[in-house]
Amino acid sequence: MSEWQELEQKYFMPTVERTPVTLVRGQGVRVWDDDGREYLDFVGGWAVDSLGHCHPVVAEAVMEQVKTLIHTSNQFYTIPQVQLAELLVENSCLDKVFFGNSGTEANEGAVKLARRYGKHHLNGAYEVITANASFHGRTLAMVAATGQAKFQEPYAPLPVGFINVEYNSIEAIKAATTSQTCAVMLEPLQGEGGVNLPDEGYLASVRAWCDQKGRLLILDEIQTGLGRTGTLFAYEQYDVEPDIMTLAKGLASGLPIGVILAKDRASVFTPGEHGSTFGGNPVTCAAGYATLKFIIENDIAGNARRMGEYLASGLGTLKDKFPFITDVRGRGLLVAMEFSRDIAQSLVTACLDRGLLLNRVKPNALRFMPPLVISDGEVDEALDILDKALSGVGN
Ligand SMILES: Cc1ncc(COP(=O)(O)O)c(C=O)c1O
Repeated sequence: MSEWQELEQKYFMPTVERTPVTLVRGQGVRVWDDDGREYLDFVGGWAVDSLGHCHPVVAEAVMEQVKTLIHTSNQFYTIPQVQLAELLVENSCLDKVFFGNSGTEANEGAVKLARRYGKHHLNGAYEVITANASFHGRTLAMVAATGQAKFQEPYAPLPVGFINVEYNSIEAIKAATTSQTCAVMLEPLQGEGGVNLPDEGYLASVRAWCDQKGRLLILDEIQTGLGRTGTLFAYEQYDVEPDIMTLAKGLASGLPIGVILAKDRASVFTPGEHGSTFGGNPVTCAAGYATLKFIIENDIAGNARRMGEYLASGLGTLKDKFPFITDVRGRGLLVAMEFSRDIAQSLVTACLDRGLLLNRVKPNALRFMPPLVISDGEVDEALDILDKALSGVGN
């Protein structure tokens, strides 16, 4: 264990099982550790580093903004946040934005917005229906929204107002809908839950149900948005439009940001009802603007779609070769490989030793979420390392 890792053990609350590597530098799809070892990064900051590490367009925008204006309060207008808001609205089906600092905070705000809508339009309805195996964040309310016992049980009792129902079941949503329901909140496809895809027609039937009942549909696109699944937003692939959408992760290339977007009719906050000291910070928004503009102008979503297909087909070939691979699934560059046994951690270690960083999303599943600018040569390199690691675990 290196000196830095010993110091971490001494000073940090042990909330995360870290991989024993201390990263000091990144460029494109590669990172380097403090011994100078190079790795191909298929973790991508947990689906954050959309343009790769230290993309020059983002670095330039951040450096320029840091020299100009780092922070003011939201009492005043600042230009980068307005520019980013315009770009988000003009390229999505939503009309208004609110900027915060993380995905969890964006979802928390989206639920507050839905509750305000419930007060105005639904006789005070406040409950939000969410799905099992979802992930919406780590605050107490978002733990209650997250339909996974392992995140909820340590913190019970949880805030009220969240009903977790079976994923991919419109009947379960219908059964859970009461006069107290103000919204349904879903990830278009579940990331942390193991890369679970919606069944054909599921999201469209949820949309239709919300319309029929006058309830809001909140889509959490924190992991799926901004090109990750092959279109700018995943909702485009399922023929649905949310009333409220949340974004975070890939928007500002690693600077902390969270966004609530809403259709005009759902945009019901009035001054003082929600806020943030750092939200909309000029540096973060300059990074977000540079990132999103580059994604749009260079069809990075198209690259994610093509490279995602290429990756999935390579993983499919490995599935044919190794009988203990039971499934390969995903959209764009959000892909999982599942095994008949709990071998994900040993594969993460075997790949690490060969210079590839991977994420274990479940004990029996790996998740692939590299930067969206990845090339086919880099995908080949990763597949080659994974092939060798898979050969090592045996049948
Ligand atoms: C779909 C989804 N929602 C919310 C979050 C929470 O975001 P953050 O960690 O930025 O608070 C995540 C993080 O993984 C996520 O994947």
